[in-house]
Amino acid sequence: MPKTFRIAVTPGDGIGPEVVAEAVRCLELLKSRHNLPLDWTSLPWPSHAWHEEHGESMPSDALEQLKAYDAILLGALGDPGPVSNPDRYLLPDSISLAPLLDMRKGFDQWVCERPARLLPGARQYLADDRAKDIDMLVIRENSEGEYVSQGGRLRKGTPDEVATQMEVFTRHATDRIIRYGFEQARKRASDRAAEGSPRQFKTLDGKTCESQVCIITKRNALRHWGDMYSEAFEEMAKEYPDVATHHELVDAACMKFVQCPWAFDVVVASNLQGDILTDLAAVLSGGMGVAPSCNLNPDDPDMPSMFEPTHGSAPDIAGEGLADPTAMLFTAARMLEWLGRQEPSLDAAGKALYDAVAADLAENSGSQRGTREIGDAVCSRIKQAG
Ligand code: IPM
Ligand code: MN
Repeated sequence: MPKTFRIAVTPGDGIGPEVVAEAVRCLELLKSRHNLPLDWTSLPWPSHAWHEEHGESMPSDALEQLKAYDAILLGALGDPGPVSNPDRYLLPDSISLAPLLDMRKGFDQWVCERPARLLPGARQYLADDRAKDIDMLVIRENSEGEYVSQGGRLRKGTPDEVATQMEVFTRHATDRIIRYGFEQARKRASDRAAEGSPRQFKTLDGKTCESQVCIITKRNALRHWGDMYSEAFEEMAKEYPDVATHHELVDAACMKFVQCPWAFDVVVASNLQGDILTDLAAVLSGGMGVAPSCNLNPDDPDMPSMFEPTHGSAPDIAGEGLADPTAMLFTAARMLEWLGRQEPSLDAAGKALYDAVAADLAENSGSQRGTREIGDAVCSRIKQAG
């Protein structure tokens, strides 16, 4: 019996359920047209609604339950909105968003991939027309660093209070994320070569390569992990002489993301620095409404990876049918491609979904459309494509 791939659909809060509904419609359509070995279950948690009823954002055995699935498709977590209702049930961010971090940690989803490519039709925020060439992949270390949540508060509430927030960087996690970056750079170079659209990157010693990895640190101030990252990067670069290498301090990287984002290819950054850079990268490539993201465990097939757009719950527009589902649809396409590593029909479905969403974006540049309308348009394209 061929394996059926099972997805845990977790719509979450705010606009999550609205955008997830469109993704599920596309999955249904793709499944019926291509006979995909795909199944999904929609779960009411994690969410504010679940917390309101049960006093916790998700059941205590949530991770065990989720482990039985092959992937998790998450809408958004956070303020459920609408902001016009001051009496809505509202949790502190640290509580409502904890399940996201628990899943990343619990399933060792150590890679967060956030592609930033300014696709035709997406809003171009930069005036410089070279922005059309923006095509980078930001790889965020997703398992440790600034997000280990170690520390505490001493003498809380007194004038002598002390808060500590530890950052932890291991050589193991550093090496694996850097290697992942180099491998992705190679893959991107070979995909571009196959499409007949190679790119060129100059190294400091004047060599030309078809891909590049830029490592980000703040080693002039945070020198311990910054130096370890730099050394690990330099050592690994020897194994990838075909890939140009580059280091940027995170503050300079922010400046260059705005000044010349087209000069970047693969960017590897720590958990927090990657978090910040990817909000910026999302805007450079059309805004939060089109920015996909995924949290991957590339080593252990028994651990589900999690697919959620970069955007949050957007409480200002929640429940109004105004949220752009494009980011969610691109994210769902990436999920299919990820599962497609084991099942070629899912890979093909992922590409079909990506193409349909990209074509819809290209054709409807700047038009004001509702969530459902965009979902309808993408579904029609999937049908037309056969
Ligand atoms: C993201 C979000 C999360 C993060 C928050 C909600 C904890 O900003 O996925 O980028 O910081 O990782
Ligand atoms: Mn973020």
